Amino acid sequence: MAFLHRSIRPVSTLTIALSKGRIFDETLPLLAAAGIVPTEDPETSRKLILPTGRPGVAVVIVRASDVPTYVRYGAADLGVAGKDVLLEHGGDGLYQPLDLEIARCRMAVATKRGFDWSGTVQRGARIRVATKYVNTAREHFATKGMHVDLIKLYGSMELAPLCGLADAIVDLVSTGNTLKANDLVVVEDIMPISARLVVNPAALKLKRDGIQPLLRALAAAVVDRRKERS
Ligand code: ATP
Ligand code: PRP
Repeated sequence: MAFLHRSIRPVSTLTIALSKGRIFDETLPLLAAAGIVPTEDPETSRKLILPTGRPGVAVVIVRASDVPTYVRYGAADLGVAGKDVLLEHGGDGLYQPLDLEIARCRMAVATKRGFDWSGTVQRGARIRVATKYVNTAREHFATKGMHVDLIKLYGSMELAPLCGLADAIVDLVSTGNTLKANDLVVVEDIMPISARLVVNPAALKLKRDGIQPLLRALAAAVVDRRKERS
């Protein structure tokens, strides 16, 4: 019976892992260009598996930082994850064929306005840095030969320097409005960030007929979008 169950599962089923919010919103037009349109909106639906207009293709809604895990274990065939997430939680075991050029921002170090960052660094004083990106921050400061005490937070990093929890934060900056509203300034740029398509390598082999055309369509949509913007 178990054998029969396996044998009738359509091999062509494709599952795409997305997180709610900006990743879902910004991936939507790219997927639409590839002919894939979810039939429900995750902001209004409580469903976590969203069918699409294309039979055999579904979108699953997961936390942004859980996308690599779903794809690595093959629970989803593909997904969209920020480079920040891939660096922090590990992109190992994932094929990363495409920079989707969406959810663009920068990873940066910020302090309260007026904090003498360069003087503190030059003195070699011990600096406390609060961040959700401890691995990325550790690597960044180690490369610079700086010793910092890292404090792990799960959100609202901007609050840490204001409450005296830390001297600096490592966080994502896009418009700069959040920093400005909290009287913080960027003191070091770490790297540009954007969202990447991630693919399970086994799925790429087993479901090549479904995945390869989708990769080509998404790559073309990224190029079209780039042309529109320039
Ligand atoms: P989680 O829910 O797992 O804590 P999150 O709150 O970081 O994740 P989102 O805020 O939806 O999830 O961010 C998803 C991705 O979008 C991030 O991983 C990052 O790559 C990118 N991103 C985050 N903030 C911005 C921003 N202000 N502008 C543009 N892109 C951003
Ligand atoms: C991200 C990031 C900053 C903010 C920066 O937070 O953590 O707080 O965006 O964007 P800005 O430079 O345009 O102000 P997000 O809005 O995703 O909220 P979150 O804390 O829930 O992740």
